[in-house]
Amino acid sequence: MSIVVNMNDELIKQRKADHINICLNEDVDSNYDYWNDVSLRHNALPEINRSEISTKIDFFGKKLNHPIFIAAMSGGHNRSRILNENCAKVASELGIGFCIGSQRAAIENPDVIESYSVVKDYDIPVVLASIGGGQLIDQKGSKGFGVDKIHKAMNMIGANGLSIFLNLPQEAVQPEGDENTKGILKAIENLSQTFDISVKECGCGISRDVAMRLKAVGVKSIEVSGVSGTSWTAVECYRAEKAKDVYKQKLGNLLWDWGIPAPVSIIESRSVGFGIKIIGSGGINTGLDAARAIVLGADGVSLAKALLPYAIKSSESLSAKILEVSDELKTVMHLTGSKDIKALKKSGYVLTGKTNEWVKQRMSF
Ligand SMILES: Cc1cc2nc3c(=O)[nH]c(=O)nc-3n(C[C@H](O)[C@H](O)[C@H](O)COP(=O)(O)O)c2cc1C
Repeated sequence: MSIVVNMNDELIKQRKADHINICLNEDVDSNYDYWNDVSLRHNALPEINRSEISTKIDFFGKKLNHPIFIAAMSGGHNRSRILNENCAKVASELGIGFCIGSQRAAIENPDVIESYSVVKDYDIPVVLASIGGGQLIDQKGSKGFGVDKIHKAMNMIGANGLSIFLNLPQEAVQPEGDENTKGILKAIENLSQTFDISVKECGCGISRDVAMRLKAVGVKSIEVSGVSGTSWTAVECYRAEKAKDVYKQKLGNLLWDWGIPAPVSIIESRSVGFGIKIIGSGGINTGLDAARAIVLGADGVSLAKALLPYAIKSSESLSAKILEVSDELKTVMHLTGSKDIKALKKSGYVLTGKTNEWVKQRMSF
């Protein structure tokens, strides 16, 4: 039995390392940039000086200096301790939010806890623990995690919220993927009685229907992570190729662009009302993308792959990259005459191309 457990631990460690290497070295982007279909309305006469503009937001009862989250990326293998430490240091210094990578590895294998718990050394306004929706229910060979294990994950990093990620397309292509999904919503509902929960996709987006169901069970925030950035079916396609799993490789190619475009997913999620926070994500690379997401209805944005090379290099380079994105956002706020994030949300936009087609057809739901 212990041999089986150790093999599983090794598999998870290797998978985490593969994910980072593939995202750094291969083309894993979706084939269409939906953000370029979102144009913002220029204001030639803004009655505000740049120095007066505020990028601050409130999230889970805390004040953040920039509406930018460092998205879930890693934990559980050699490179992730330094990556998580750099992210935690920068989130603390800049006063922004940070979501750790999936903590499944540490819940199942105490040897890797330190690659996550290093985050506890930093005073971060919003830090989210992370677990897959698939780990909340029984899968082949493993029991679903209950409240006790989630407490363990939260305490491990001193979290003030829990991010639950949904990633069925990725699991479907992953050679060793978990494909049970029945009961995840009920499990989220149970956990939402104890924790502040944010639910996210991993690159395939959240529809209006899913957003409504999540809101109804008490979820406080949705991170859309729609199509336009990192494709996790693409990432698993490369892993399948390495594992010589021809069928899964073919499936990964077939589903490379599967999902709801990120800008559309924001509009759909926001259409369920204002009693829930929306984080725009999936291919956010610049402050202009961030502004586009906020104008469409997001409260903030989160970035993964665009930050990865900086997060691995050093806290200084990560900090400089995030400040660049925030500065670009501030410039766009000036150009739209928006003195704060609330005003930016009202500043108006025009949709073109495939994004416009999606919205025209989906708004008849
Ligand atoms: C190297 C890497 C590892 C990731 N690991 C996780 C994870 O453990 N949990 C999770 O919820 N999302 C994970 N993600 C997904 C991101 O948080 C994000 O939802 C997705 O990559 C789309 O955003 P992007 O286009 O900015 O990369 C990971 C992303 C990257 C780049």
